[in-house]
Amino acid sequence: MGQGRVAVIGSGYVGLTTGACLARLGHEVVCGDVDAAKVELLSRGEVPILEDGLPELVAEGLASGRLRFVHGAVAAISGADFVFLCLPTPDGGDGRADLRIVHAVVAEIGPFLERDAVLITKSTVPVGTAQQITATVQRPDVAVVSNPEFLQEGTAVRNFMNPDRVVVGSDSRAAAEAVAGLYDGLSCPQVVTSAESAELIKYAANAFLAMKLSFVNSVAALAEEVGADVGEITYGMGMDERIGSKFLKAGPGWGGSCFPKDTKALAAIALDHGVPFPLLDATTLSNDQAQDRVAEMVRQAAGGSVAGKRIALWGLTFKAGTDDLRDSPALEVAARLAESGAELVGHDPAVHRDLPIKPGQPTVRVVADPIEAAEGAEVLVVLTEWPQFAEVDLEVARAVSAGDVIVDARNLLDTAAAVGAGWTVVGVGRPTVR
Ligand code: UGA
Repeated sequence: MGQGRVAVIGSGYVGLTTGACLARLGHEVVCGDVDAAKVELLSRGEVPILEDGLPELVAEGLASGRLRFVHGAVAAISGADFVFLCLPTPDGGDGRADLRIVHAVVAEIGPFLERDAVLITKSTVPVGTAQQITATVQRPDVAVVSNPEFLQEGTAVRNFMNPDRVVVGSDSRAAAEAVAGLYDGLSCPQVVTSAESAELIKYAANAFLAMKLSFVNSVAALAEEVGADVGEITYGMGMDERIGSKFLKAGPGWGGSCFPKDTKALAAIALDHGVPFPLLDATTLSNDQAQDRVAEMVRQAAGGSVAGKRIALWGLTFKAGTDDLRDSPALEVAARLAESGAELVGHDPAVHRDLPIKPGQPTVRVVADPIEAAEGAEVLVVLTEWPQFAEVDLEVARAVSAGDVIVDARNLLDTAAAVGAGWTVVGVGRPTVR
């Protein structure tokens, strides 16, 4: 296996997972971050995000001496053959990725990179970024490689260790292959491409998955109208290997820190290059509609209006297994309900503080227990697929609630048990059961 001294710049969930997993694969890894408090925490083995298996890997890396955390990018790159950039690339406000942080870091570390070091973008960056970085870094000996990540929050460690593929793209085939060599311990295909192709693979993959989900959520809407069941439909569709059975669960729309931003960014890239790509705008529009639909289901369940009514929200994070609230569909639905005058009480296993939904709107009062959230609620809404919710005693929940309708926007609960406990269950893309 190719060995290397690795620096990882940025200790968010991508950087931290990448660093800890590369250390597990036997590499010497130094992670640098601008946040001194975070560096101190991580150096003590405390992981500030909820990510299954990550604390154990960080502890293992620290104990073996193969994983270290330092303050600042320049300190991290000393002695490094490979430098991974795992930095935020937020929406710049016009749908385009804002690369200021990436370029600032590249300019900062450029003069201090070791001779013949390889600079690698892990962050999702627009097509052409590798070329721009080459221009910014001003070091003919330094090759730039695009090595996009395909990690899902909540299962990032498992995704890293069991990838479907590793993608590396560069003008320099030798540099791309050297980066691919860092992953030789993993059994998966290695795809070596141009930098432009690697950059587009990432966006195209995320936008395609988002489109798949938008499609399913529209099928769910149709299923409700015709009396079909979206679970049966996707089961039948997914058996076609050309479609595949994964990523076909209907829900309250998709969210998180990647899909919304990346779908819009790819649309902007297409626009900038004069390429019509209407599916991307439709994918985002359809997702807004999925969120509208769930809010409307709740209004209907409350008798036509939620104004002045207490609504219980089970789940606030953008999906189960993470504490990430960024672009959470649960909060999008909550915002729509708040706008209609609802009083919102929420419970989420990973959220322990009241949440302001959007500026100028009331907060979701967050309580420590799902039953407490259901107390006095006119409607109970399941918004995140935490498996814990399927274990809650629905008879107790019914006894304390004011209404008798559950809107199960994740089709998570045992419908028969819920009906047995006196509930009417409105699911997504399937007939209401009472
Ligand atoms: C996504 C991609 O899946 C990763 O491959 C990629 O690396 C990552 O973005 C990124 O670009 O960094 P993530 O944002 O962690 O990962 O979330 P997903 O697991 O993809 O879920 C996205 C949204 O789709 C969530 O709101 C989830 O609840 C929803 N979803 C997912 C469904 O509604 N139905 C499904 O069947 C699957």
